[in-house]
Amino acid sequence: MSLDESVLFTSLVIGKLSIPGRIIKTATSETRATSDGFATQQHIDFYLPMAKGGVPLIITGNLYTSFDGKSTPLQMGADDDAKIPALKHLVESMHAHGTQIFAQVNHAGRQVIPSYAGIPAAVSASSVKDLSTGTRPRALTVAEIKLIVQQFADASARCKRAGFDGVQIHAGHGYLVNQFLTPYTNERTDDYGGSFDNRLRFLRDVYRAIRARVGNDYPVIIKLNGSDYLPLRPGLKTPELVRVAVAMEQEGIDAVEVSVGQYESGFPMVRGTFGRSLRNMLSGGVRHLSLWRRIAFNLFWPVMALIFNLLFKHREGFNLHYARQFKQALSIPVICVGGFLNREAMQAAVEQGLCDAVSVGRGFIADPLLYRHLHDRTSGPRCVYCNACVGLIGTQPVDCYHPKVRTEKDAMLAAMEN
Ligand SMILES: Cc1cc2nc3c(=O)[nH]c(=O)nc-3n(C[C@H](O)[C@H](O)[C@H](O)COP(=O)(O)O)c2cc1C
Ligand code: SF4
Repeated sequence: MSLDESVLFTSLVIGKLSIPGRIIKTATSETRATSDGFATQQHIDFYLPMAKGGVPLIITGNLYTSFDGKSTPLQMGADDDAKIPALKHLVESMHAHGTQIFAQVNHAGRQVIPSYAGIPAAVSASSVKDLSTGTRPRALTVAEIKLIVQQFADASARCKRAGFDGVQIHAGHGYLVNQFLTPYTNERTDDYGGSFDNRLRFLRDVYRAIRARVGNDYPVIIKLNGSDYLPLRPGLKTPELVRVAVAMEQEGIDAVEVSVGQYESGFPMVRGTFGRSLRNMLSGGVRHLSLWRRIAFNLFWPVMALIFNLLFKHREGFNLHYARQFKQALSIPVICVGGFLNREAMQAAVEQGLCDAVSVGRGFIADPLLYRHLHDRTSGPRCVYCNACVGLIGTQPVDCYHPKVRTEKDAMLAAMEN
């Protein structure tokens, strides 16, 4: 696949690692683990066609670094040495096809419905209620913060021992690291809150602890928001997030993937249409919401879908305007995620210097052979951004749940096996 003249099929260097292509499979939570967080054959079944299709780098869905940081049922964890052999099997299955794989490490913080995820309680930088789920977390003590930092490092070291080619710290989408960075969710008055440097401290400590365990040559990258997208609330905007990225580049981070939004933002993170998504949520976390939230959701989801459809219309490369600003300030690679499906748009983004690589989630869920299809200029099943898959996170194994697209996908995969 390397004779193509497009920049998309040239190498991207992340730290000391060379990735032979610039279209990456971004993290999509799998809902394919055992109930206690072990990787399974279902993970391999999901990723293997992508590897066979030539994708050079897969970033896993987020793995919890400690049990209290879990966000959904059937999520993979990296919180225990006993999990290493199953993770190793997953990694080796990808390496057998020349695909490299990074593990995304995460702590959900307040963005969880504890009874749904099966954890005792939610914690965060401060006790600020999450308006999307109604979860009010408990503020972490300094001793607990230090423990979580260590757990990020331990989990990353396990990922390295399992053979992962790198790790990605999830610092976006409103999870715990993002909760420390953002004034809206961080009201602390100690060393971890207030000034920019204090709000950065948790992320910086997590990075330093990971780096101390995995060594200087191991790729450690970060997923950051280009905007928290929290109108009327003190969420982070692009200039301060770029400042975070610059500080982390100085620390030694190897690349930044730029995304957008938190749970409370609505759906800027996965633009498209939302009827299928919201309806599918009724069978998942919604069942665990408080009574009045359940009633409101059941009554008003069609209206919410109409509003979200207007507010968060799909457009290709929807985070590029953020990525461009990161690119201007950084020397390390900038990866842009968000709505990419067509080769021309991806190529233009890289050629125009808006980013160094693109990453794709739903496009690969609908068409695991997307990389080959883009390379060969042939077409496969095309994601229609209905977000049915998003509505089933934690309830069904990650897959395409649009009937027509799924039929095409299944037929393509069946033909591959014959
Ligand atoms: C089913 C699903 C699960 C996701 N899980 C994660 C996750 O675990 N970690 C993460 O950083 N982003 C997650 N995302 C967000 C994607 O990584 C990506 O930012 C978003 O889907 C936009 O990219 P796309 O338009 O190419 O799908 C998920 C998205 C989907 C659709
Ligand atoms: S078409 Fe499939 S992959 Fe795309 S958003 Fe809908 S369910 Fe998800």
